[in-house]
Amino acid sequence: MSNLVGIGRPAGAARPEATHRMRNAPQDPAPQDSAPSGPTPSGPSHVTRTDLVAGFDRIGLRPGQVALVHSAMRPFGHVEGGAETVVDALLDVLGPRGTLVVPTFTFAHEATTAAGDRLLIDPANDPSEMGTISETVRRRPDARRTAAFRHSFAAIGRRAEPIASVDHGLAPFDLRSAFGVMLALDAQVVLLGVTYARSTSHHFAEWLSEVPYRHAVVREVRLRQPDGSIIETTMGDYQPRPSPDGSYYGSRATDFNRLGLMLERTGAVSVTPIGNAIVRRFAMRSLIELAVAEAERDHNIFRTPEGQKAHITGLPDGVFVFSHEIRDAAGRPETHFWNVVNPRAVAGFRDDWRVVVPDVPAADPAP
Ligand SMILES: CC(C)(COP(=O)(O)OP(=O)(O)OC[C@H]1O[C@@H](n2cnc3c(N)ncnc32)[C@H](O)[C@@H]1OP(=O)(O)O)[C@@H](O)C(=O)NCCC(=O)NCCS
Repeated sequence: MSNLVGIGRPAGAARPEATHRMRNAPQDPAPQDSAPSGPTPSGPSHVTRTDLVAGFDRIGLRPGQVALVHSAMRPFGHVEGGAETVVDALLDVLGPRGTLVVPTFTFAHEATTAAGDRLLIDPANDPSEMGTISETVRRRPDARRTAAFRHSFAAIGRRAEPIASVDHGLAPFDLRSAFGVMLALDAQVVLLGVTYARSTSHHFAEWLSEVPYRHAVVREVRLRQPDGSIIETTMGDYQPRPSPDGSYYGSRATDFNRLGLMLERTGAVSVTPIGNAIVRRFAMRSLIELAVAEAERDHNIFRTPEGQKAHITGLPDGVFVFSHEIRDAAGRPETHFWNVVNPRAVAGFRDDWRVVVPDVPAADPAP
């Protein structure tokens, strides 16, 4: 049984006291211009570059850091200038010695492989399937992109080169992969309006923990090189092992919020609203340390309890909004899932979306 309750709760009625406070923020004093993004003349879900910069500062993003950003646009409400403004604000805060990294994953490549077609990986042209903020970063002239079967990244800034130039033949979560480089650089994971469900660093932790239900897979691909030439090569992938019932995950599903909540309880996560979006920051290193230690005790720390595939651990801030069913680029049905202050302020809110006020477990539940 899911531990989420309150389906259909009216807009704006959800824990306003919890969603508008800032938790676990860094102790250093905020600059004068970084007051919490309260109502603007156009309302709290009208977000400007200044609001974004102030919010990123509140969660402790600092100049010179490497930030791995998972994002959705809709949760903010309305961002003046769209995705370009979010990217500009992130670069403002990280500064010239910082590095902005986004996932630019391509599930379409899985569909091509399944169809038996000769797969072409084209890093310069394959669009990102990880949202418009990610695609905006990828298209910037100074962005570098890794070559990967599914798990590519685009990076801008000082450390873009070492992150983007890793060996494409490695498994995506190998310690010598882009993830390994980011871990070495003390990357900060930033979640914009999405929960830990979209934190790929949790998959990295699964890899490092050698969970038995996933394995490395080698893909034969063609790769378009920067000069336009095409080479035949192999790339690493990381997939669930075939399950006894033939489904993608078997009798458990992924629940990365569970470790996310545990991490929040250690004080390692900063949380704040920016406009209507709940935004979080944590050090990838903190997550990995916690996850690997917990997985030593029980590797199911990343997954739902047995037979409870709909279970998602609740989080203390904001409400969850689940979209209608949408197909990913591989043709698989998926539901988009956002974490917001007011569900009805989500851009393009639809009445068939499910609003859930998370019921937060009193203690870390047993697997
Ligand atoms: C899939 C996902 C990107 C969908 O989120 P989304 O907000 O609907 O999509 P985008 O971020 O691409 O934003 C596009 C939407 O923003 C909205 N939008 C457009 N302009 C906007 C603005 N100025 N301000 C706010 N919202 C705006 C529109 O509704 C647009 O949707 P449309 O093009 O269908 O009209 C998101 O749920 C997600 O999962 N993000 C994380 C991805 C990730 O990193 N995954 C890694 C592990 S799998």
